[in-house]
Amino acid sequence: MQNNTKKDFEPKIKVEKLTGFKGSDLEDLCDAMEKTIADAGTGLFSVGFNWVEAPPREKLESYWKGLLLVPERTLFVGRIDGVIASSIQIIKPPPSNQAQSFAATMREHFVAPWARGHGLAKLLLKAVEEECVAQKLKILKLEVRASRDAAISLYESFGFKRWGMLDKYEMVGGNYIAGYFYYKDLL
Ligand SMILES: CC(C)(COP(=O)(O)OP(=O)(O)OC[C@H]1O[C@@H](n2cnc3c(N)ncnc32)[C@H](O)[C@@H]1OP(=O)(O)O)[C@@H](O)C(=O)NCCC(=O)NCCS
Repeated sequence: MQNNTKKDFEPKIKVEKLTGFKGSDLEDLCDAMEKTIADAGTGLFSVGFNWVEAPPREKLESYWKGLLLVPERTLFVGRIDGVIASSIQIIKPPPSNQAQSFAATMREHFVAPWARGHGLAKLLLKAVEEECVAQKLKILKLEVRASRDAAISLYESFGFKRWGMLDKYEMVGGNYIAGYFYYKDLL
């Protein structure tokens, strides 16, 4: 009889830079995004949109397709057993902004609720840092809502330094929510 160990059932996780959609990639990415937004509830999570409820599927699809056409943006996705369950974006300053051409911003980092706790968020962050270093960028910036404890703990464990806080960072249901601003020097 075959002796199955816990390792046999561990999902295969993988992160990659996405330049086009194949198979069910686009649907899986929209699905991951919808589930992340639904999980945040009135806590609101936005990817490109500031809506409490996920926008209609066609708008989500247009968003992701359009994103791949923006030269300053790089999209990474994380897969579990081949299914896209997470993503992150690097945004570089436009060519006209030469004075800040050394700095990139990391945005829209999320893992669908069903895929959390397997290390995808960490792998995505690592991929972003490696890409920025390869592109000779010197610092990586990010901002995050002050209540996102899991994300804050992750970013600080990666060596991001908090340099600022804004009380009126976002507005949800008529109330202001604070946000934190971080940066990391890249080697
Ligand atoms: C934050 C988020 C991306 C983490 O995804 P994940 O796949 O569970 O994270 P990973 O398994 O790769 O990494 C786990 C690390 O994140 C942190 N973390 C994850 N969940 C946590 C929790 N509930 N409490 C505290 N820290 C947590 C820890 O540093 C942890 O490292 P450890 O396992 O060594 O302790 C995910 O919870 C998410 O998408 N949240 C909603 C969207 C969001 O907040 N995005 C970030 C700001 S835009």
